[in-house]
Amino acid sequence: MELRHFTSLLDLSSAELRTLIARAIQLKNHRDPDYQPMKGKVLGMIFEKSSTRTRISFEAGMAQFGGSAIFLSPRDTQLGRGEPLEDSARVISSMVDAIMLRTNKHETVTTFAHYSRVPVINGLTDLLHPCQLLADMQTYFEMRGDIAGKTVTWIGDGNNMCHSYINAARQFDFKLNIACPYEYRPNQSIVDAAGSRIAFFNHPEQAAAQADLVVTDVWASMGQEDEQKKREIAFQDFQVNQQTMQAAHPDALFMHCLPAHRGEEVSAEVIDGPQSVIFPEAENRLHAQKALLEFLICR
Ligand code: CP
Ligand code: NVA
Repeated sequence: MELRHFTSLLDLSSAELRTLIARAIQLKNHRDPDYQPMKGKVLGMIFEKSSTRTRISFEAGMAQFGGSAIFLSPRDTQLGRGEPLEDSARVISSMVDAIMLRTNKHETVTTFAHYSRVPVINGLTDLLHPCQLLADMQTYFEMRGDIAGKTVTWIGDGNNMCHSYINAARQFDFKLNIACPYEYRPNQSIVDAAGSRIAFFNHPEQAAAQADLVVTDVWASMGQEDEQKKREIAFQDFQVNQQTMQAAHPDALFMHCLPAHRGEEVSAEVIDGPQSVIFPEAENRLHAQKALLEFLICR
């Protein structure tokens, strides 16, 4: 059996990602409690940062599939005391069937994958958040159909979510308009690899023109709490509000990976308004990751 990881959306082919989204929708709509493909299987979950959705969706997903998950915090394991990643990856992967990591540095996940003998899943790093994109794509497909050829608008920080949207533009073949302050632009090599699908704008309304989906995220990510004040100033003109949504297509959806700061990156009117799909989007973390676990573990 070929070992596969999910450290980035680019680890799967476009066709595999599409099949996975279709499977997630099927698992959601036809839940069969007797289907227990993970019976006796264990997922190890290493969290260097906080989480609500990622932890619960992976843990619940494994339980629903008849398996189990172990929550590991560096505070309670030898990882926090400096045991080498290489050794930890070899040891942990000798005891579990897959490992999910949420880490500060992206290299922690790729190093882990290199030394692991079981699939490694990126549950968010400073660079990427691919699991969230599975849920976002599932949500769009369910509500509006295929996203190929559509226009998606990203407003705000060129962060881990933005990078994953850029990778998604490549894999799902949509156009991505980005509006962000110049000094907070996304990683240039990730942008370059996506070619002409990516366009930059100085104003949110220009970026949102005729958009089918508008997305944003917090101005200060986990680990950037000290920069909150500085970022509030830099991002003040980059809020998704009614004006932004009015520039978009009338049936455009609004998404946010959550947690959100109402009144900062998005107005309460928009995030709690009729175009917002944040709660189905959050729920789909469960279904999309069940499809991912099945793909990686039951191959
Ligand atoms: N969207 C997301 O990953 O949420 P958590 O930080 O709660 O896991
Ligand atoms: N960009 C955010 C996403 C949280 C799910 C962060 O990294 O904190």
